[in-house]
Amino acid sequence: MIVLDGRQLATTIKEELATATQAIVAAGGKKPHLAAVLVGDDPASQAYVRNKVRSCEQVGFDSTLIRRPATTTQEELLQIVRDLNADNTIDGFIVQLPLPNHIDEHAVTLAIDPRKDVDGFHPVNFGRMAQGLPAYLPATPFGILEMLKRYEIPTSGKEVVVVGRSNIVGTPISILLSRKANPGNATVTICHSRTENLADHTRRADILIAAIGQAEFITGDMVKRGAVVIDVGMNRVDDASREKGYRLTGDVDYAGVAKVAGYLTPVPGGVGQLTVMALLLNTLKANQKEIFG
Ligand code: GUN
Repeated sequence: MIVLDGRQLATTIKEELATATQAIVAAGGKKPHLAAVLVGDDPASQAYVRNKVRSCEQVGFDSTLIRRPATTTQEELLQIVRDLNADNTIDGFIVQLPLPNHIDEHAVTLAIDPRKDVDGFHPVNFGRMAQGLPAYLPATPFGILEMLKRYEIPTSGKEVVVVGRSNIVGTPISILLSRKANPGNATVTICHSRTENLADHTRRADILIAAIGQAEFITGDMVKRGAVVIDVGMNRVDDASREKGYRLTGDVDYAGVAKVAGYLTPVPGGVGQLTVMALLLNTLKANQKEIFG
């Protein structure tokens, strides 16, 4: 079994991003600049945003963190978005999700200028992706594509089974892997909570993508021998033996699946490492005006 090492890939991509940034600056250009908006004090969101800002620093990007309390109104947040849309010093920005319940996430996403939507959540970017036009791809699907590409895992003609149909992972990765592209050209099945005989589907997969949000849901008996298993899960499970009182675990029962899979992503240290790289790659594209010209 080969471990798909997200940390190592992230290190390589960071070096590439640092080199690209130096070249931009040497040519008299402006450094890529990412802004992140964080509303409230959800601990997981704080950790994710910290990681994004730290990664910007590591590759030489500029970054701006805008923090607001959980009591921020929707109108106040929309004004921040409008200001970022108009700010020529910012190439791209994200509004970290989830937002407090009184704020309509969809309204906020729609307010982001698609040219600065480096999360790829705006329907314009989603639609462009679906039509095969240049688009900012959402971070997790982008990270999965980079993982498949850089490990030279063939996808053309393969059976891909995606478990989970979320807007930010399951649905976009199923579109991307069925496109006429490389990676792509796969025969894709999307499974979800209403799927009957789920294991009959997953056992057919040459490439199995688990994006369910339930700890250790995919067990060894659900996986074909030699399959490529991509674990997108990031679940906090209570664990009194850990200092923080919890541990992170994926949607895949790692020990059980490792006995049958040919390739497997660990959690942590797998796809999650690449999602931040995807965001930085999108920010570089925004800086270079690669997507919208
Ligand atoms: N919350 C969890 N994942 C993401 C992401 O990729 N982007 C944003 N903005 N929020 C998230």
